[in-house]
Amino acid sequence: MKLIKDHETDEDFWSLKDRDRRDSAHCIFQYPAMMVPLVQRRLLASILEAKPSIRSMYDPFVGSGTSLVSGMHFGLDVYGNDVNPLAVLISRVRTARCTEFTIGAIVGQVAREAASDRRESIECELMNREKWFQASVSVELSRLRRAIRRQSNLWVRRFLWVTLAETVRLTSNDRTSTYKLHARAAEDIAKRILSPISMFLEIGAVNAESFLEFRAELRRRSRVKSGKYVGVTEVNSGDTREISDKFGDKSFDLIMTSPPYGDNLTTVTYGQHSYLPLHWIDFQDIDSAADRETLRTTHEIDRRSLGGILHDNSWAEERLLASSVTLRDFADNLPCSPADGRKRLLRFYGDFAASLVSIANAAKANAYMVWTVGNRNIGGKQVPTDIVLQELLEEQGCLVLKILTRTIHHKRMPDRNASSATMREERILLVRKIDQ
Ligand SMILES: C[S@@+](CC[C@H](N)C(=O)[O-])C[C@H]1O[C@@H](n2cnc3c(N)ncnc32)[C@H](O)[C@@H]1O
Repeated sequence: MKLIKDHETDEDFWSLKDRDRRDSAHCIFQYPAMMVPLVQRRLLASILEAKPSIRSMYDPFVGSGTSLVSGMHFGLDVYGNDVNPLAVLISRVRTARCTEFTIGAIVGQVAREAASDRRESIECELMNREKWFQASVSVELSRLRRAIRRQSNLWVRRFLWVTLAETVRLTSNDRTSTYKLHARAAEDIAKRILSPISMFLEIGAVNAESFLEFRAELRRRSRVKSGKYVGVTEVNSGDTREISDKFGDKSFDLIMTSPPYGDNLTTVTYGQHSYLPLHWIDFQDIDSAADRETLRTTHEIDRRSLGGILHDNSWAEERLLASSVTLRDFADNLPCSPADGRKRLLRFYGDFAASLVSIANAAKANAYMVWTVGNRNIGGKQVPTDIVLQELLEEQGCLVLKILTRTIHHKRMPDRNASSATMREERILLVRKIDQ
């Protein structure tokens, strides 16, 4: 059977001009570069039709968990990991097997408790707190934090932490127009009249509604029985270059993911975007392995991501360039500016290649893979990520079956970042690991 039918090779089929922001609880936090749930479901439907025996799926760069919730629509066992603790938290909320259907009422109760708390003490250890939060905002966020801590159910607290994270994003002094931390001008800050408690209530109501709609859809598809999702769901904190100790000797039928476009500092600063919200969240509620040291500096999460600090498993330049002629040609022809362009490019791909070894090991023989990638720019030249990925995957015993193109209509991209400014489409690689 054909993996992708003829009408599905049409670019418009994947581009989706209209989309539902509440689909599968997509909007509970504005995570950068999220995939579109309906696109992932269409891909899954095609693959599962061709190969109905697929039972498990793994996303090695799970982000907000879009691929995993898409897999849940089909009743799959879903697994993922990410280096960013905020991504782990959001994904754990969205993929929980058991949830609490009164969550909407609980949001209201927490907001009421916070509103009746008269304490002025501030529950946040953040250097330069006054730079990032107005004093009255810190007081209200602290009242919410105390009220959330009083909830006894862990999933409920996680859901409330995500709602608080989105509240922090919108009430801090950080500009929302960029993912990099960048404080608003003093006159702008002085004009803003903010009530985090009211905002929490509003965001929480929308989050609860979209989440309950997602669970209702899973029930309609018979994916929830006696209140529990039928498959396994597991999301861990962890670096994909070192995942072998995370999922034990498990291996997966399908890999579905969208990796970072390049090193975080010059593409999407997932870490900086998560830095302020994470300061208001109890780390022990995220995951026992979530490391508070990731908040050591504003850059720490991005440094730990692909292309950040030198990593033991990273591939050396020689090995990397021997594995991808396209990358070698591109690196050899890079313009001199930016001066560190080549170094950054090769450090990112050295890390990416190392993560592909782990990913290929985690895939069963004959497993399918679906990779959504963006071709970013360096020095005004577009990096052919799709072809480089193809060559690196071939090195790992994988075969690219098809490459689809989709136009990006809605994804929040790093528009203001010159290195990525022209990224308006992405490629979807359909891959198969060859039986060896
Ligand atoms: C493009 S985003 C994934 C977005 C996701 N598909 C969604 O819909 O939300 C890439 C993710 O890779 C994560 N990441 C970067 N380096 C990583 C590494 N070495 N191991 C695991 N995750 C990593 C980033 O934190 C980010 O969440």
